[in-house]
Amino acid sequence: LGLASYDPGFLNTAATRSAITYIDGDKGILEYRGYPIEQLAEKSTYLETAWLLLNGELPTEQQLVDWENDIETHTIVHENLKRLMEGFRYDAHPMGMLISSVAALSTFYPEAKQIRDPAIRLRQIHRLIAKVPTLAAFCYRHSLGLPYNYPRNELGYTENFLAMLFRMTESRFDPDPVLARALDILFILHADHEQNCSTAAMRAIGSSDVDPYSAYAGAAAALYGPLHGGANEAVLRMLESIGDVKNVPGFIERVKNREVLLMGFGHRVYKNYDPRATIIKRTADQVFEVTGRNPLLEIALELEKIALNDEYFVKRKLYPNVDFYSGLIYQSMGLPVSMFPVMFAIPRTAGWLAQWQEMLEDPEQKIARPKQIFTGHARRDYPAERK
Ligand code: CMC
Repeated sequence: LGLASYDPGFLNTAATRSAITYIDGDKGILEYRGYPIEQLAEKSTYLETAWLLLNGELPTEQQLVDWENDIETHTIVHENLKRLMEGFRYDAHPMGMLISSVAALSTFYPEAKQIRDPAIRLRQIHRLIAKVPTLAAFCYRHSLGLPYNYPRNELGYTENFLAMLFRMTESRFDPDPVLARALDILFILHADHEQNCSTAAMRAIGSSDVDPYSAYAGAAAALYGPLHGGANEAVLRMLESIGDVKNVPGFIERVKNREVLLMGFGHRVYKNYDPRATIIKRTADQVFEVTGRNPLLEIALELEKIALNDEYFVKRKLYPNVDFYSGLIYQSMGLPVSMFPVMFAIPRTAGWLAQWQEMLEDPEQKIARPKQIFTGHARRDYPAERK
Protein backbone atom coordinates (compact mmCIF):
# COMPACT_ATOMS: atom_id res chain seq x y z
CA LEU A 1 0.00 0.00 0.00
CA GLY A 2 2.84 2.35 0.84
CA LEU A 3 4.21 1.90 -2.68
CA ALA A 4 1.36 3.67 -4.47
CA SER A 5 2.79 5.83 -7.24
CA TYR A 6 1.60 9.41 -7.42
CA ASP A 7 0.05 10.16 -10.82
CA PRO A 8 -2.42 13.06 -10.65
CA GLY A 9 -4.54 13.21 -13.80
CA PHE A 10 -3.42 9.63 -14.67
CA LEU A 11 -0.77 10.88 -17.08
CA ASN A 12 1.08 7.59 -16.89
CA THR A 13 -1.38 5.07 -15.52
CA ALA A 14 -3.19 2.57 -17.76
CA ALA A 15 -6.37 1.61 -15.92
CA THR A 16 -7.58 -0.74 -18.62
CA ARG A 17 -6.73 -2.82 -21.67
CA SER A 18 -8.82 -1.77 -24.66
CA ALA A 19 -9.14 -2.93 -28.29
CA ILE A 20 -11.44 -0.12 -29.42
CA THR A 21 -9.58 3.08 -30.25
CA TYR A 22 -5.92 3.60 -31.05
CA ILE A 23 -4.27 7.00 -30.81
CA ASP A 24 -0.67 7.93 -31.56
CA GLY A 25 -0.54 11.50 -30.33
CA ASP A 26 2.96 12.17 -31.68
CA LYS A 27 2.05 11.09 -35.20
CA GLY A 28 -1.52 12.49 -35.18
CA ILE A 29 -3.10 9.04 -35.70
CA LEU A 30 -6.63 8.10 -34.61
CA GLU A 31 -8.12 4.70 -35.50
CA TYR A 32 -11.35 3.00 -34.47
CA ARG A 33 -10.90 -0.79 -34.45
CA GLY A 34 -7.93 -0.32 -36.80
CA TYR A 35 -9.70 1.87 -39.35
CA PRO A 36 -8.15 5.36 -39.80
CA ILE A 37 -10.50 8.17 -38.83
CA GLU A 38 -9.91 9.86 -42.21
CA GLN A 39 -11.33 6.80 -44.07
CA LEU A 40 -14.29 6.44 -41.73
CA ALA A 41 -15.11 10.15 -42.08
CA GLU A 42 -15.06 9.76 -45.84
CA LYS A 43 -16.78 6.40 -46.30
CA SER A 44 -18.76 5.43 -43.21
CA THR A 45 -21.86 6.72 -41.45
CA TYR A 46 -22.28 7.42 -37.77
CA LEU A 47 -24.52 4.41 -37.16
CA GLU A 48 -22.16 2.09 -39.03
CA THR A 49 -19.23 3.50 -37.02
CA ALA A 50 -21.20 2.99 -33.80
CA TRP A 51 -21.68 -0.68 -34.73
CA LEU A 52 -17.97 -0.96 -35.51
CA LEU A 53 -17.01 0.49 -32.13
CA LEU A 54 -19.38 -1.81 -30.29
CA ASN A 55 -18.72 -5.02 -32.25
CA GLY A 56 -15.14 -4.76 -33.44
CA GLU A 57 -15.90 -5.33 -37.15
CA LEU A 58 -17.79 -3.46 -39.83
CA PRO A 59 -21.36 -4.77 -40.14
CA THR A 60 -22.51 -6.76 -43.16
CA GLU A 61 -25.20 -5.06 -45.23
CA GLN A 62 -27.91 -7.07 -43.45
CA GLN A 63 -26.43 -6.39 -40.00
CA LEU A 64 -26.42 -2.67 -40.79
CA VAL A 65 -30.05 -2.72 -41.92
CA ASP A 66 -31.08 -4.60 -38.76
CA TRP A 67 -29.02 -2.27 -36.56
CA GLU A 68 -30.54 0.86 -38.11
CA ASN A 69 -33.95 -0.69 -37.65
CA ASP A 70 -33.23 -1.51 -33.99
CA ILE A 71 -32.22 2.10 -33.36
CA GLU A 72 -35.25 3.50 -35.22
CA THR A 73 -37.70 1.52 -33.15
CA HIS A 74 -36.40 3.11 -29.94
CA THR A 75 -36.26 6.80 -30.84
CA ILE A 76 -39.48 7.79 -29.03
CA VAL A 77 -39.26 8.64 -25.33
CA HIS A 78 -41.94 8.14 -22.68
CA GLU A 79 -44.38 11.07 -22.50
CA ASN A 80 -43.47 11.63 -18.84
CA LEU A 81 -39.96 12.57 -19.95
CA LYS A 82 -41.54 15.49 -21.78
CA ARG A 83 -43.10 16.55 -18.49
CA LEU A 84 -39.77 16.22 -16.73
CA MET A 85 -38.30 18.48 -19.41
CA GLU A 86 -41.12 20.99 -19.03
CA GLY A 87 -40.21 21.35 -15.34
CA PHE A 88 -36.90 23.01 -16.15
CA ARG A 89 -36.58 26.77 -16.08
CA TYR A 90 -36.90 28.45 -19.46
CA ASP A 91 -33.16 29.29 -19.41
CA ALA A 92 -31.91 25.90 -18.16
CA HIS A 93 -28.64 24.85 -19.79
CA PRO A 94 -29.38 22.11 -22.36
CA MET A 95 -26.50 19.98 -21.08
CA GLY A 96 -27.93 20.08 -17.56
CA MET A 97 -31.26 19.00 -19.01
CA LEU A 98 -29.69 16.20 -21.05
CA ILE A 99 -27.70 14.84 -18.09
CA SER A 100 -30.80 14.85 -15.88
CA SER A 101 -33.14 13.35 -18.44
CA VAL A 102 -30.74 10.51 -19.33
CA ALA A 103 -30.34 9.79 -15.60
CA ALA A 104 -34.14 9.73 -15.39
CA LEU A 105 -34.28 7.08 -18.16
CA SER A 106 -32.98 4.54 -15.63
CA THR A 107 -36.26 4.86 -13.74
CA PHE A 108 -38.22 4.03 -16.90
CA TYR A 109 -36.19 0.88 -17.60
CA PRO A 110 -35.57 -0.91 -14.30
CA GLU A 111 -34.54 -4.04 -16.26
CA ALA A 112 -31.38 -2.11 -17.17
CA LYS A 113 -29.95 -3.06 -13.79
CA GLN A 114 -29.39 -6.57 -15.17
CA ILE A 115 -26.23 -5.50 -16.91
CA ARG A 116 -24.78 -9.03 -16.94
CA ASP A 117 -27.52 -10.21 -19.32
CA PRO A 118 -26.22 -9.55 -22.88
CA ALA A 119 -29.71 -9.30 -24.45
CA ILE A 120 -30.90 -6.78 -21.87
CA ARG A 121 -27.64 -4.89 -22.18
CA LEU A 122 -28.03 -4.68 -25.96
CA ARG A 123 -31.56 -3.30 -25.60
CA GLN A 124 -30.25 -0.46 -23.40
CA ILE A 125 -27.55 0.22 -26.00
CA HIS A 126 -30.25 0.56 -28.68
CA ARG A 127 -32.28 2.79 -26.41
CA LEU A 128 -29.45 5.13 -25.52
CA ILE A 129 -28.19 5.60 -29.09
CA ALA A 130 -31.80 6.11 -30.24
CA LYS A 131 -33.14 8.33 -27.46
CA VAL A 132 -30.26 10.70 -26.77
CA PRO A 133 -30.88 12.71 -30.00
CA THR A 134 -34.60 12.91 -29.15
CA LEU A 135 -33.85 14.20 -25.65
CA ALA A 136 -31.20 16.56 -27.04
CA ALA A 137 -33.72 18.02 -29.49
CA PHE A 138 -36.26 18.42 -26.65
CA CYS A 139 -33.61 20.36 -24.66
CA TYR A 140 -33.14 22.73 -27.58
CA ARG A 141 -36.86 23.19 -28.21
CA HIS A 142 -37.46 23.76 -24.50
CA SER A 143 -34.92 26.58 -24.39
CA LEU A 144 -36.84 28.31 -27.22
CA GLY A 145 -40.26 27.63 -25.73
CA LEU A 146 -41.19 25.60 -28.81
CA PRO A 147 -43.25 22.40 -28.91
CA TYR A 148 -41.16 19.25 -29.01
CA ASN A 149 -40.96 17.42 -32.32
CA TYR A 150 -41.43 13.66 -32.40
CA PRO A 151 -38.87 11.56 -34.29
CA ARG A 152 -39.44 10.81 -37.99
CA ASN A 153 -38.05 7.38 -38.45
CA GLU A 154 -38.16 7.32 -42.21
CA LEU A 155 -35.23 9.76 -42.09
CA GLY A 156 -31.61 8.85 -41.39
CA TYR A 157 -30.07 9.35 -37.93
CA THR A 158 -28.68 12.87 -38.43
CA GLU A 159 -31.50 13.96 -40.77
CA ASN A 160 -34.06 12.94 -38.18
CA PHE A 161 -32.12 14.84 -35.54
CA LEU A 162 -32.01 18.00 -37.68
CA ALA A 163 -35.76 17.64 -38.30
CA MET A 164 -36.47 17.25 -34.57
CA LEU A 165 -34.40 20.39 -33.92
CA PHE A 166 -35.66 22.68 -36.63
CA ARG A 167 -39.06 21.53 -37.92
CA MET A 168 -41.35 24.49 -37.30
CA THR A 169 -44.72 23.18 -38.44
CA GLU A 170 -46.27 19.84 -39.13
CA SER A 171 -45.54 20.48 -42.79
CA ARG A 172 -42.71 18.73 -44.61
CA PHE A 173 -39.18 19.47 -43.47
CA ASP A 174 -36.31 18.24 -45.60
CA PRO A 175 -32.96 18.72 -43.92
CA ASP A 176 -30.25 19.96 -46.27
CA PRO A 177 -28.30 16.82 -47.35
CA VAL A 178 -24.95 18.67 -47.14
CA LEU A 179 -25.65 19.70 -43.54
CA ALA A 180 -26.91 16.22 -42.64
CA ARG A 181 -23.76 14.61 -44.06
CA ALA A 182 -21.53 17.21 -42.34
CA LEU A 183 -23.23 16.41 -39.05
CA ASP A 184 -22.75 12.70 -39.71
CA ILE A 185 -19.02 13.33 -40.26
CA LEU A 186 -18.81 15.36 -37.04
CA PHE A 187 -20.58 12.52 -35.22
CA ILE A 188 -18.09 9.97 -36.61
CA LEU A 189 -15.16 12.15 -35.47
CA HIS A 190 -16.61 12.47 -31.96
CA ALA A 191 -17.74 8.86 -31.57
CA ASP A 192 -14.83 7.70 -29.39
CA HIS A 193 -11.49 8.88 -28.12
CA GLU A 194 -10.21 6.11 -25.82
CA GLN A 195 -9.69 6.94 -22.14
CA ASN A 196 -10.63 10.64 -22.04
CA CYS A 197 -12.14 12.14 -18.89
CA SER A 198 -15.79 11.28 -19.67
CA THR A 199 -15.03 7.76 -20.93
CA ALA A 200 -12.90 7.11 -17.87
CA ALA A 201 -15.90 8.33 -15.83
CA MET A 202 -18.22 5.94 -17.74
CA ARG A 203 -15.92 3.03 -16.96
CA ALA A 204 -15.34 4.07 -13.33
CA ILE A 205 -19.03 4.54 -12.59
CA GLY A 206 -20.00 1.48 -14.63
CA SER A 207 -17.47 -0.60 -12.70
CA SER A 208 -19.85 -0.48 -9.73
CA ASP A 209 -22.31 -2.46 -11.93
CA VAL A 210 -24.76 0.44 -12.00
CA ASP A 211 -27.22 0.66 -14.93
CA PRO A 212 -25.90 2.33 -18.12
CA TYR A 213 -28.22 5.37 -17.90
CA SER A 214 -26.77 6.35 -14.54
CA ALA A 215 -23.22 5.73 -15.74
CA TYR A 216 -23.97 7.72 -18.90
CA ALA A 217 -25.26 10.66 -16.85
CA GLY A 218 -21.95 10.70 -14.95
CA ALA A 219 -19.94 10.50 -18.17
CA ALA A 220 -22.00 13.32 -19.70
CA ALA A 221 -21.42 15.40 -16.56
CA ALA A 222 -17.67 14.95 -17.03
CA LEU A 223 -18.06 16.02 -20.66
CA TYR A 224 -19.86 19.19 -19.56
CA GLY A 225 -16.67 20.72 -18.12
CA PRO A 226 -14.99 23.52 -20.13
CA LEU A 227 -11.68 21.62 -20.31
CA HIS A 228 -13.39 18.69 -22.03
CA GLY A 229 -16.64 18.74 -24.07
CA GLY A 230 -17.49 22.24 -22.95
CA ALA A 231 -14.47 23.50 -24.89
CA ASN A 232 -16.37 24.08 -28.15
CA GLU A 233 -18.76 26.35 -26.26
CA ALA A 234 -15.79 28.09 -24.64
CA VAL A 235 -14.18 28.59 -28.08
CA LEU A 236 -17.23 30.41 -29.41
CA ARG A 237 -17.52 32.57 -26.31
CA MET A 238 -13.80 33.36 -26.65
CA LEU A 239 -14.17 34.30 -30.35
CA GLU A 240 -17.17 36.49 -29.50
CA SER A 241 -15.26 38.20 -26.69
CA ILE A 242 -12.32 38.93 -29.03
CA GLY A 243 -14.88 40.47 -31.36
CA ASP A 244 -12.57 41.62 -34.15
CA VAL A 245 -9.48 40.39 -35.99
CA LYS A 246 -7.58 43.47 -34.85
CA ASN A 247 -7.90 42.32 -31.21
CA VAL A 248 -6.27 38.93 -31.89
CA PRO A 249 -2.61 39.94 -31.17
CA GLY A 250 -3.65 41.48 -27.83
CA PHE A 251 -5.54 38.30 -26.92
CA ILE A 252 -2.52 36.13 -27.78
CA GLU A 253 -0.43 38.27 -25.43
CA ARG A 254 -2.94 37.65 -22.63
CA VAL A 255 -2.67 33.89 -23.29
CA LYS A 256 1.13 34.10 -23.11
CA ASN A 257 0.87 36.06 -19.85
CA ARG A 258 -1.24 33.13 -18.58
CA GLU A 259 -4.28 35.30 -17.96
CA VAL A 260 -6.48 33.12 -20.22
CA LEU A 261 -6.24 29.86 -22.14
CA LEU A 262 -6.52 29.73 -25.90
CA MET A 263 -9.60 27.52 -25.94
CA GLY A 264 -9.69 24.86 -28.65
CA PHE A 265 -5.91 24.54 -28.54
CA GLY A 266 -3.82 21.85 -26.91
CA HIS A 267 -4.55 18.25 -26.14
CA ARG A 268 -3.42 15.77 -23.54
CA VAL A 269 -2.59 13.21 -26.20
CA TYR A 270 -2.05 14.97 -29.53
CA LYS A 271 1.26 16.76 -29.44
CA ASN A 272 1.63 17.06 -33.21
CA TYR A 273 -1.82 17.78 -34.58
CA ASP A 274 -5.35 16.56 -33.93
CA PRO A 275 -6.38 14.61 -37.08
CA ARG A 276 -10.03 15.38 -36.31
CA ALA A 277 -9.31 19.12 -36.54
CA THR A 278 -8.03 18.71 -40.12
CA ILE A 279 -11.22 16.92 -41.22
CA ILE A 280 -13.45 19.38 -39.37
CA LYS A 281 -11.81 22.34 -41.08
CA ARG A 282 -12.65 20.79 -44.47
CA THR A 283 -16.20 20.00 -43.36
CA ALA A 284 -16.60 23.60 -42.16
CA ASP A 285 -15.90 24.86 -45.67
CA GLN A 286 -18.68 22.62 -47.07
CA VAL A 287 -21.12 23.80 -44.41
CA PHE A 288 -20.31 27.47 -44.97
CA GLU A 289 -21.09 27.05 -48.68
CA VAL A 290 -24.65 26.24 -47.64
CA THR A 291 -25.06 28.52 -44.62
CA GLY A 292 -22.79 31.41 -45.59
CA ARG A 293 -19.48 32.20 -43.93
CA ASN A 294 -19.54 32.48 -40.14
CA PRO A 295 -18.29 36.01 -39.29
CA LEU A 296 -16.24 34.60 -36.39
CA LEU A 297 -14.26 32.44 -38.83
CA GLU A 298 -11.87 35.30 -39.67
CA ILE A 299 -10.96 35.65 -35.98
CA ALA A 300 -10.46 31.88 -35.66
CA LEU A 301 -8.22 31.77 -38.75
CA GLU A 302 -6.13 34.68 -37.49
CA LEU A 303 -5.76 33.09 -34.03
CA GLU A 304 -4.68 29.84 -35.63
CA LYS A 305 -2.20 31.58 -37.92
CA ILE A 306 -0.53 33.56 -35.15
CA ALA A 307 -0.50 30.71 -32.63
CA LEU A 308 0.98 28.18 -35.06
CA ASN A 309 3.90 30.54 -35.68
CA ASP A 310 4.45 31.72 -32.12
CA GLU A 311 7.24 30.20 -30.02
CA TYR A 312 5.00 29.91 -26.90
CA PHE A 313 2.61 27.55 -28.67
CA VAL A 314 5.22 25.77 -30.80
CA LYS A 315 7.38 24.97 -27.77
CA ARG A 316 4.42 23.53 -25.87
CA LYS A 317 3.15 21.62 -28.94
CA LEU A 318 -0.22 23.37 -28.84
CA TYR A 319 -2.31 22.84 -31.98
CA PRO A 320 -6.00 23.32 -32.78
CA ASN A 321 -8.04 20.44 -31.42
CA VAL A 322 -11.40 18.99 -32.50
CA ASP A 323 -13.27 21.79 -30.76
CA PHE A 324 -11.60 24.73 -32.45
CA TYR A 325 -13.84 24.61 -35.55
CA SER A 326 -16.77 22.38 -34.52
CA GLY A 327 -18.48 25.25 -32.67
CA LEU A 328 -18.33 27.46 -35.74
CA ILE A 329 -20.09 24.74 -37.73
CA TYR A 330 -22.80 24.24 -35.11
CA GLN A 331 -23.37 27.99 -34.88
CA SER A 332 -23.71 28.25 -38.65
CA MET A 333 -26.30 25.47 -38.55
CA GLY A 334 -28.34 27.65 -36.23
CA LEU A 335 -27.51 26.10 -32.87
CA PRO A 336 -26.89 28.26 -29.79
CA VAL A 337 -23.53 27.82 -28.02
CA SER A 338 -25.22 26.21 -25.03
CA MET A 339 -26.12 23.25 -27.29
CA PHE A 340 -22.49 22.56 -28.25
CA PRO A 341 -21.61 20.16 -25.43
CA VAL A 342 -24.85 18.34 -26.20
CA MET A 343 -23.66 18.02 -29.80
CA PHE A 344 -20.53 16.33 -28.43
CA ALA A 345 -22.46 14.01 -26.10
CA ILE A 346 -24.79 12.62 -28.81
CA PRO A 347 -22.07 10.93 -30.89
CA ARG A 348 -19.91 10.05 -27.86
CA THR A 349 -22.79 7.82 -26.77
CA ALA A 350 -21.43 5.08 -29.05
CA GLY A 351 -17.94 5.33 -27.58
CA TRP A 352 -19.10 5.41 -23.97
CA LEU A 353 -21.27 2.35 -24.55
CA ALA A 354 -18.55 0.44 -26.42
CA GLN A 355 -16.07 1.15 -23.62
CA TRP A 356 -18.65 0.28 -20.96
CA GLN A 357 -19.46 -3.01 -22.68
CA GLU A 358 -15.78 -3.86 -23.09
CA MET A 359 -15.25 -3.14 -19.40
CA LEU A 360 -18.10 -5.43 -18.36
CA GLU A 361 -16.82 -8.24 -20.59
CA ASP A 362 -13.26 -7.97 -19.27
CA PRO A 363 -12.63 -10.78 -16.75
CA GLU A 364 -9.85 -8.72 -15.14
CA GLN A 365 -12.12 -5.75 -14.48
CA LYS A 366 -12.58 -4.65 -10.89
CA ILE A 367 -14.45 -1.78 -9.32
CA ALA A 368 -12.48 1.44 -9.90
CA ARG A 369 -10.84 2.49 -6.69
CA PRO A 370 -7.69 4.63 -7.02
CA LYS A 371 -5.16 4.90 -4.26
CA GLN A 372 -4.19 8.13 -2.52
CA ILE A 373 -1.06 9.52 -0.94
CA PHE A 374 -2.31 10.63 2.46
CA THR A 375 -1.10 14.13 3.43
CA GLY A 376 -3.27 14.80 6.48
CA HIS A 377 -2.72 14.68 10.22
CA ALA A 378 -1.16 11.77 12.05
CA ARG A 379 -3.43 10.15 14.61
CA ARG A 380 -4.49 12.49 17.42
CA ASP A 381 -6.98 12.30 20.29
CA TYR A 382 -10.24 14.14 20.43
CA PRO A 383 -9.75 16.89 23.11
CA ALA A 384 -11.21 16.17 26.54
CA GLU A 385 -12.52 19.72 26.62
CA ARG A 386 -13.47 21.96 23.68
CA LYS A 387 -12.43 25.63 23.95
N1 CMC B 1 -3.74 27.86 -24.05
C1 CMC B 1 -2.61 28.30 -23.51
N2 CMC B 1 -1.70 27.51 -22.92
C2 CMC B 1 -1.95 26.22 -22.88
C3 CMC B 1 -3.13 25.66 -23.43
C4 CMC B 1 -4.05 26.54 -24.03
N3 CMC B 1 -5.16 26.08 -24.57
N4 CMC B 1 -3.13 24.34 -23.23
C5 CMC B 1 -2.00 24.04 -22.58
N5 CMC B 1 -1.28 25.17 -22.37
C6 CMC B 1 0.04 25.27 -21.76
C7 CMC B 1 -0.01 25.04 -20.25
O1 CMC B 1 -0.19 26.25 -19.55
C8 CMC B 1 1.32 24.39 -20.00
O2 CMC B 1 2.30 25.39 -20.01
P1 CMC B 1 3.59 25.27 -19.01
O3 CMC B 1 4.25 23.97 -19.35
O4 CMC B 1 4.40 26.46 -19.30
O5 CMC B 1 3.01 25.27 -17.61
C9 CMC B 1 1.58 23.55 -21.24
O6 CMC B 1 0.83 24.19 -22.28
C10 CMC B 1 1.14 22.10 -21.12
O7 CMC B 1 -0.24 22.09 -20.77
P2 CMC B 1 -0.92 21.09 -19.79
O8 CMC B 1 -2.01 21.82 -19.06
O9 CMC B 1 0.11 20.38 -18.98
O10 CMC B 1 -1.55 20.06 -20.81
P3 CMC B 1 -2.65 18.99 -20.45
O11 CMC B 1 -2.33 17.81 -21.29
O12 CMC B 1 -2.76 18.77 -18.98
O13 CMC B 1 -3.99 19.71 -20.90
C11 CMC B 1 -5.86 20.43 -22.16
C12 CMC B 1 -4.69 19.44 -22.08
C13 CMC B 1 -6.72 20.05 -23.37
C14 CMC B 1 -6.72 20.33 -20.89
C15 CMC B 1 -5.29 21.86 -22.30
O14 CMC B 1 -4.50 21.95 -23.46
C16 CMC B 1 -6.40 22.92 -22.33
O15 CMC B 1 -6.84 23.36 -21.26
N6 CMC B 1 -6.84 23.36 -23.56
C17 CMC B 1 -7.92 24.31 -23.68
C18 CMC B 1 -9.24 23.60 -23.51
C19 CMC B 1 -9.62 22.75 -24.69
O16 CMC B 1 -9.55 23.18 -25.84
N7 CMC B 1 -10.05 21.51 -24.41
C20 CMC B 1 -10.55 20.59 -25.44
C21 CMC B 1 -9.71 19.38 -25.54
S1 CMC B 1 -10.07 18.43 -27.01
C22 CMC B 1 -11.65 17.82 -26.77
C23 CMC B 1 -11.72 16.77 -25.72
O17 CMC B 1 -11.17 15.69 -25.92
O18 CMC B 1 -12.36 17.04 -24.71
